[in-house]
Amino acid sequence: MRTIKISAIGSTNDYLKELIKNTEVEDGTIVHTKHQTHGKGQRGAHWFFEIGKSLAFSVFMKFSSWPVQDQFYINFAVSMGVKIGLESMGIPKVAIKWPNDILSDGKKVCGILVENQFQSMHISSSVIGIGVNVNNTSFTRFPHASSLLLNTGIRYNPEEVMHAISQSVVKQLKKLDTSTKEALKQEYESYLFRKDEVVVFEDTLDRKFQGIIEGVTEQGLLCVRKKDRSLQHFQLKEIKLLY
Ligand code: BTN
Repeated sequence: MRTIKISAIGSTNDYLKELIKNTEVEDGTIVHTKHQTHGKGQRGAHWFFEIGKSLAFSVFMKFSSWPVQDQFYINFAVSMGVKIGLESMGIPKVAIKWPNDILSDGKKVCGILVENQFQSMHISSSVIGIGVNVNNTSFTRFPHASSLLLNTGIRYNPEEVMHAISQSVVKQLKKLDTSTKEALKQEYESYLFRKDEVVVFEDTLDRKFQGIIEGVTEQGLLCVRKKDRSLQHFQLKEIKLLY
């Protein structure tokens, strides 16, 4: 896969999105930086980066005509690819916290930001941003975060981590054309953090409630069985898992 290396950049996702507007970019192209200064997280958050310790890269993937209504399958595949890639490196207890936070031993070690490009009712391509806490040692402001080094005692080469993850992500994305949607969704659900356990959530009004994560809908909403046995579907901004 072609890799574009940039010494410092605001956001690898933004750089790649600009590049595809103006040039023909090969499928599978990776943009990697050693210093990401304005990394973007989910829901407009800033993504934390430490030089020499954090990994930030984006992968460009083209689709011939992926239906907009199936867009969450791209996220399923990317999350599974990252999970399997980290496991192949021996990272312990890797799970996907819905929708696409990657945890090891219950702490977030990797974040994913997928930005799709549309053509009428189809997705023509995706810019898949992946941030990994590789050799970071302190997360004072982020009690739910950790790094590969803290969880294994091993110092990793960030570029080797990038290769393991990107190859695995591309492999999973290729499955979108060969596997059934049901099989992909089931595999994704089987990797979900705290699935089938009684857990506590907080809603938008800070009210806590108990529920059991049963899976996701085809649109990527979380399916939670509540105490009264009703099954409810939630969007990301409607619910927070307390753990
Ligand atoms: C999250 O909030 O969990 C998503 C974090 C995604 C961060 C990565 S780092 C590489 C790419 N470039 C960005 O600006 N964001 C993503």
